[in-house]
Amino acid sequence: MIAIGCDHGGYELKLEIKKYLDDNGFEYIDFGTDSTASTDYTIYAKKVTDAILSGECDKGILLCGTGIGISMAANRRPGIRAAVCTDCFMAEATRSHNDANVVCMGGRVVGAGLAVKIVDTFLHTDFSNGERHIHRIAMIEEMNQ
Ligand code: RB5
Repeated sequence: MIAIGCDHGGYELKLEIKKYLDDNGFEYIDFGTDSTASTDYTIYAKKVTDAILSGECDKGILLCGTGIGISMAANRRPGIRAAVCTDCFMAEATRSHNDANVVCMGGRVVGAGLAVKIVDTFLHTDFSNGERHIHRIAMIEEMNQ
């Protein structure tokens, strides 16, 4: 199950990504926002990461104007590895190397066509399980101690 959320800056992009998820048979829960009215990206970062940390969802998609603010908020949660991606190389690398569980993008940065390809890459790339990557991810988590 995928958790998706956005603020007003990512709302239009979310509609395009939901269309991709629907067309490709992915199950998801949309945690809002539901319009382009100004709101706080922190609200949706919390809702989406809560869903992942509770086990309700296993991956998340977060969208704001740049992808940056919402990723900063998401990355405050231990166990969340949220990656801002602006191309498919980043999406593949962050799954393979960082075992990222949330992809973040900016509705004012990437077009819908590229964003959909980034999501497709993110969802279809497995973690490498490389020893060095497991070690580094463990070190990230230790930074929360
Ligand atoms: C909202 O205007 C904007 O600041 C937000 O969507 C995001 O880009 C923050 O990082």
